[in-house]
Amino acid sequence: MCGIVAYLGQREATPILLEGIKRLEYRGYDSAGIAVIRGGKVLIRRSVGRISALEEKVGGELDGATIGMAHTRWATHGAPTEINAHPHCDASGKLALVHNGIIENYRVLRTFLENHGVRLESQTDTEVLAKLVGHFYDGCLEEAVRRALREVRGTFGIAVLHTDEPETIVAARRGSPLILGVGQGEYVVASDAAAIIQHTPQVIYLSDNEVVTVTRDGFRTTNLQAAPVTKELEEIEWTLEQLELGEHQHFMSKEIFEQPEALRTCLRGRVDLEEARVVLGGLDSVTRELVRCKRIILAGCGTAWHSCLVGKYLIEEMARIPCEVEYASEFRYRNPLIFDRTVVVAISQSGETADTLAALREAKDRGALALGIVNAVGSTIARETDAGVYLHVGPEIGVASTKAFIGQLTVLSLLAAFLGRRRHMSHPECLRYLKELSQIPQAIERTLELSSQTRRIAARFVEANNWLYLGRGLQYPIALEGALKLKEISYIHAEGLPAAEMKHGPIALINEDMPVVVIAVHDHLYDKVISNIEEVRSRGGRVIAVATEGDAHIGRLAEEVLYVPEVPEMLQPLVTVVPLQLLAYHAAVLRGCDVDKPRNLAKSVTVE
Ligand code: M6R
Repeated sequence: MCGIVAYLGQREATPILLEGIKRLEYRGYDSAGIAVIRGGKVLIRRSVGRISALEEKVGGELDGATIGMAHTRWATHGAPTEINAHPHCDASGKLALVHNGIIENYRVLRTFLENHGVRLESQTDTEVLAKLVGHFYDGCLEEAVRRALREVRGTFGIAVLHTDEPETIVAARRGSPLILGVGQGEYVVASDAAAIIQHTPQVIYLSDNEVVTVTRDGFRTTNLQAAPVTKELEEIEWTLEQLELGEHQHFMSKEIFEQPEALRTCLRGRVDLEEARVVLGGLDSVTRELVRCKRIILAGCGTAWHSCLVGKYLIEEMARIPCEVEYASEFRYRNPLIFDRTVVVAISQSGETADTLAALREAKDRGALALGIVNAVGSTIARETDAGVYLHVGPEIGVASTKAFIGQLTVLSLLAAFLGRRRHMSHPECLRYLKELSQIPQAIERTLELSSQTRRIAARFVEANNWLYLGRGLQYPIALEGALKLKEISYIHAEGLPAAEMKHGPIALINEDMPVVVIAVHDHLYDKVISNIEEVRSRGGRVIAVATEGDAHIGRLAEEVLYVPEVPEMLQPLVTVVPLQLLAYHAAVLRGCDVDKPRNLAKSVTVE
């Protein structure tokens, strides 16, 4: 869960590398470092904290180099100190290495190195790898990297430099993403396309256990046994503009406001109103098998898991296929039952979440049809699935997932109709549903007008240390999502619950200090939710309701009401989540939190 960038070309390497890791800062941001080769020496600078601190330290000291690499870290082994920051060197000081991932057998390797007289300075697993590559170096960096990686258990995306081969970068991956950007006479290796797109749209996506060796004459890819691997050049589909803040103060607010457009892009080309059917090209190869399935398991983590919960409602209601939801992290370590005709769908924005990837592999090993609903094109999950559907909502930079959630709900709405239509949904039924779905971007646009009201409400309740979020039916996962948003970016404790569960324990928490956000839109559970609001009120709880426009009654029960446009029940989560995102955003801003880079978190969790 770190960011790597390496550069080889004709231009000054340092500004390119620093700019590159800034674009990857969302992946990790507790320390950073840079190494360049200049005048036959490897020069390294490292610092604790944000990349701006590193930038200040570097000043102009590394000018004049055209090859180098940089790293932004999210600590796993060893505290975020300067000595633990990457790059790490080998014993000779001639080799430098940056790493994203976890070397699981680093203790064994450390002992091996110590027995060979190698001294280690840091507490990191990465230094062990740097020293190991150095230990095997015998005049060929590519071979030393391969030799060392054959000993490694765990995950890695690495880049390595050596002063004896001053015009070579060797990079490799297993389990952690790595992309090579191929420009005009220059190359950029990075963990994510975000650090490449300003230099070139042409990339190759490395697969697990592949090594790429980049020199001024070109690049070659091999596997860990040195056999050549042929890779196709692909084009990054994101634009630079999508990676910029524009007029917004934070990526999270930019991404919340991008949601109507994100949804439109996600729907584009997928809704055929004439035939009243859903077109999902990514599922063409498996449609027969999918439509005949007996059971679907949806798996994900965090926000993606909340999407799974909504997906279960949609698929069971519209396609009448039994659907289960699994935390990917639990599924992978159970002994899951995969019967004949089971489909497992892994949902992930980044496509790199370690637990989701492991769940997907587990499902495949047990013979399930493995599908993916992923945003990051070319990511590991996207490539390892049998088939899948991309979100196409553009890059999501803020650590708190917002527009990816909307994209996931949209794809799941499409998938439910795709299956329903092929099983029993009639032409008029499906037509009505697809028309309604196509209207949702406008409903979200209107909901975004609640921004100033949510700011005012956030200001009113921001001192409260505990919040409750309640919802029923399709709104229960939205209550969970609202609570997750608030806690992860504002550090306020928040809990989401199915509203009726409150009286089985959590009601004891309610008093006049407790804001209780209740999603009480017009659906078949409305009256039940109103009773739950009464229960909260009679214990002194302070109700903030999300309600349907025109609901005058609720104004008498709640201290604050956020009115959202009326949309069909199955599509309501796409609208009701928006005020909760805004509420969390404004609360975090008011508390002075680092909204896009909350403490202890990183955007993509590529470790267990
Ligand atoms: O990239 P993924 O969708 O697989 O990520 C899953 C979770 O780590 C992610 O949704 C996380 O919960 C977000 N920070 C929530 O806002």
